[in-house]
Amino acid sequence: MTGRPAPPPIRPMSAADLPRVMEIAQSLEEAPEWPPAAWAAVLSRHAVPRRIALVAAEPLSGIIAGFAVAILVPPQSELELIAVVTRSRRRGIGRLLIAALASELLAAGMQELFLEVRVSNRAARDFYRALGFAETGRRARYYTDPEEDAVLMSLRLA
Ligand SMILES: CC(C)(COP(=O)(O)OP(=O)(O)OC[C@H]1O[C@@H](n2cnc3c(N)ncnc32)[C@H](O)[C@@H]1OP(=O)(O)O)[C@@H](O)C(=O)NCCC(=O)NCCS
Repeated sequence: MTGRPAPPPIRPMSAADLPRVMEIAQSLEEAPEWPPAAWAAVLSRHAVPRRIALVAAEPLSGIIAGFAVAILVPPQSELELIAVVTRSRRRGIGRLLIAALASELLAAGMQELFLEVRVSNRAARDFYRALGFAETGRRARYYTDPEEDAVLMSLRLA
């Protein structure tokens, strides 16, 4: 057998996943820093607005290879975070996470998935474009530390 190993299946994020998910998020320069309380709210059934959080996890070992979080602001939704651990990139895991998220968001009545990404994050911008997101605008100096513009991108779900 040659080529990349098959991507792990996608499932809802659980409280047991949080320590590893937070560890991965903290290790990434590209990811926003969320305090533990923000992560707890991601999984709360009662939080308003609601969020959908998914992980890609190896079925036998349970090792988490990536995750994605979207917030629902009907009829739109926003991709707040997506990450795949460095050694598991370019295996189609990010694509699977977005596909699973899009299908759940559509089922929840959302019509659009939008996001902001740093202008300098070429890998993520190429990734989003490959998945069908279109650039819809820019926000000047949206990010701090370091200060940088955001590119706005959007994917029609319905
Ligand atoms: C962006 C990210 C989630 C992509 O995850 P991934 O699992 O590697 O992506 P996939 O393997 O599903 O890639 C799907 C397609 O996107 C494009 N793509 C993905 N990574 C790319 C890169 N580094 N450069 C160019 N195109 C890329 C390719 O077209 C790819 O298809 P291919 O591998 O058949 O050519 C991952 O690079 C990551 O975690 N980056 C750090 C965190 C981050 O920047 N998140 C976004 C801001 S919060």
